[in-house]
Amino acid sequence: MAISSRTVVLNAAFLQEIKEDDVMLRQLLHQVRQRFSEGRWLDHPARDTWQLLEQLRDQLATHFTLEEACGYMESSLEQSPELSEQAVRLRNEHGPLFLLLCEICERCAEGVHTRKGLRWLGRVAMRFWEFDARFRKHEQQEEALILQAFHQDTGVGD
Ligand SMILES: [Fe+2]
Repeated sequence: MAISSRTVVLNAAFLQEIKEDDVMLRQLLHQVRQRFSEGRWLDHPARDTWQLLEQLRDQLATHFTLEEACGYMESSLEQSPELSEQAVRLRNEHGPLFLLLCEICERCAEGVHTRKGLRWLGRVAMRFWEFDARFRKHEQQEEALILQAFHQDTGVGD
């Protein structure tokens, strides 16, 4: 049985690149989550946390660029028209999510350069958890959509 999904006929090197990107993103997310858990940011220089957030921001940019260049969302549009609205909505979440993380980085940079103590970093942490919840939800919905599109494409569940 031929599977016409673009996610299946992608360039293998490109797929590998996305996998590597995912690993790096997960590692950075894990590090930042640990850093902002239970006030652990107090154990580290604020400048280190700022650099970590900037690494995460840069990796997120790569992640979104690869996702959009990959075209699997577009394949959802073509193969499952009824899912197109959801696919467009999820793809359109990339910009606001990235801008939120940029804002968090800017708040952190401002604190590093102008504030004393580390209490302000608690507010940066709260903003990060907002981002994290939105990003987790985005990823879950995106994975569910891809799975749904794949199942429709292969006739599973019909
Ligand atoms: Fe995404």
